[in-house]
Amino acid sequence: MTIWLLVMWVAIAILVLLQGSVLLVYSNWKLKKRRRSRAQLPKGTLGWPLIGETLDFVSCAYSPRPESFMEKRRLLYGKVFKSHIFGSPTIVSTDAEVSRFVLQSDAKAFVPWYPKSLTELMGKSSILLINGSLQRRVHGLIGAFFKSSQLKCQITSDMQRYVLSSMRDWKDGDQIIYIQDEAKLIVFQILVKGLIGLEPGKEMQFLKQQFQEFIAGLMSLPVKLPGSRLYRSMQAKKRMAMLVQKIIKEKRSKNNGCAPRDAIDVLINDSSHQLTDDLISDNMIDLMIPAEDSVPVLVTLSVKYLSECPLALQQLEEENMELKKRKSMTGETLQWTDYMSLSFTQHVITETLRMGNIISGIMRKAVKDVEIKGHFIPKGWCVFTYFRSVHLDDNIYRDAYKFNPWRWKAKDMSTCSFTPFGGGQRLCPGLDLARLEASIFLHHLVTNFTWVAEEDHVVNFPTVRMKGRMPIRITRKPKIHPC
Ligand SMILES: *[C@@H]1O[C@H](CO)[C@@H](O)[C@H](O)[C@H]1NC(C)=O
Ligand SMILES: *[C@@H]1O[C@H](CO)[C@@H](O)[C@H](O)[C@H]1NC(C)=O
Ligand SMILES: *[C@@H]1O[C@H](CO)[C@@H](O)[C@H](O)[C@H]1NC(C)=O
Repeated sequence: MTIWLLVMWVAIAILVLLQGSVLLVYSNWKLKKRRRSRAQLPKGTLGWPLIGETLDFVSCAYSPRPESFMEKRRLLYGKVFKSHIFGSPTIVSTDAEVSRFVLQSDAKAFVPWYPKSLTELMGKSSILLINGSLQRRVHGLIGAFFKSSQLKCQITSDMQRYVLSSMRDWKDGDQIIYIQDEAKLIVFQILVKGLIGLEPGKEMQFLKQQFQEFIAGLMSLPVKLPGSRLYRSMQAKKRMAMLVQKIIKEKRSKNNGCAPRDAIDVLINDSSHQLTDDLISDNMIDLMIPAEDSVPVLVTLSVKYLSECPLALQQLEEENMELKKRKSMTGETLQWTDYMSLSFTQHVITETLRMGNIISGIMRKAVKDVEIKGHFIPKGWCVFTYFRSVHLDDNIYRDAYKFNPWRWKAKDMSTCSFTPFGGGQRLCPGLDLARLEASIFLHHLVTNFTWVAEEDHVVNFPTVRMKGRMPIRITRKPKIHPC
């Protein structure tokens, strides 16, 4: 009996495998027929049927060097190669120019692609998914608001307040501070206030709990049965959406003519009537996904790299102390422009973005056949633009694995070889705000404390973070007196 079962399973497995490879051969043959120009399907292998090379990809992703998956294939096939990961035939690009082309293309050539569980959770009207004029409209409105100096002023004063109230409780000597946790708490408050105008309090607490429940399902299996991880996440999102819609209704009924204070104000003021309450609330929640995690990780990694590079820490401290003394002499409070003009501090943040690779790559799907630099990308295939390999390329960044903020003194950031938060039409509109928040945190940390970092290390998958939440042992510096 059991033997027969076994034999049957093996037979089925072989059938499935065969069918997979027949399909592959057939689709390759069809591709060859369809293509007339000289552009070539990149070299590479599609691995096993169905799972492709996903297992190898994931096991590299968990290792300290996730880019080793790409490195191996880059040596064999070149900077652009074909593979099969996450259930789709995929062209992987570690070529900065090809990646830039893909990200700058419009929806006629490429549309965003995310794992199934993620698209289920985001809903159809998410800015991360929509394309065409509606996407440009929402992105434009939010982008302009994020760039406004009025929002930067507000964030600066809020951030200073939250940083002070956190750091006030830090005890000297034996207390261990977990930088990642501290940064997460502060940044979440800033984010929620900037998006939906909520101040810290009961509702913020509720939102935070629901948000944790919500993002726990982002990488789950796409099973929507009651009790499943994805189902619970969707329920949490519904509860968040109800709270946000209540806020939207209140705001719409007030409709005072002041300048916008948060993203909801900006979107409900739009005159096109395309932006429904549902669309706005969904997007407010989706915008929290990239921001909630990436800014705290940026802060955390910069503390890590600084702890390992005393020379950089010393120079950063000098620059910030100088600013603090200058300001305390005149009794002025610090403005956002003060933080952003700290050139070495900005180099430290840039270098952290390069090495940290908080967003290691972005997935797109081709909606038609595309040719780039002699590479052929068939319709229906995914493209994975992998920035990490570019950021860690020795030919572009000398000693690429070395934390060297000084390299940015002579280097231009606006090249296609530096894409910390993606690029093109969907370039993260919060990049400047992320820098500002990180600068404010670092300023108050280095001007009031010295620290010794405890042992910890970076985990790269599924998201970048510190395994032990970056513990440091702090000592408060003596007060400085303006003289
Ligand atoms: C892009 O937008 C069009 C309509 O504007 C829609 O039909 C299509 O499904 C969208 N594609 C994706 C992947 O969202
Ligand atoms: C609404 O839009 C008008 C111009 O269209 C602008 O003057 C006003 O400041 C805006 N208000 C808000 C709250 O965005
Ligand atoms: C840093 O020290 C100054 C006095 O030198 C104090 O006014 C300020 O509140 C301190 N900031 C933090 C974050 O502890």
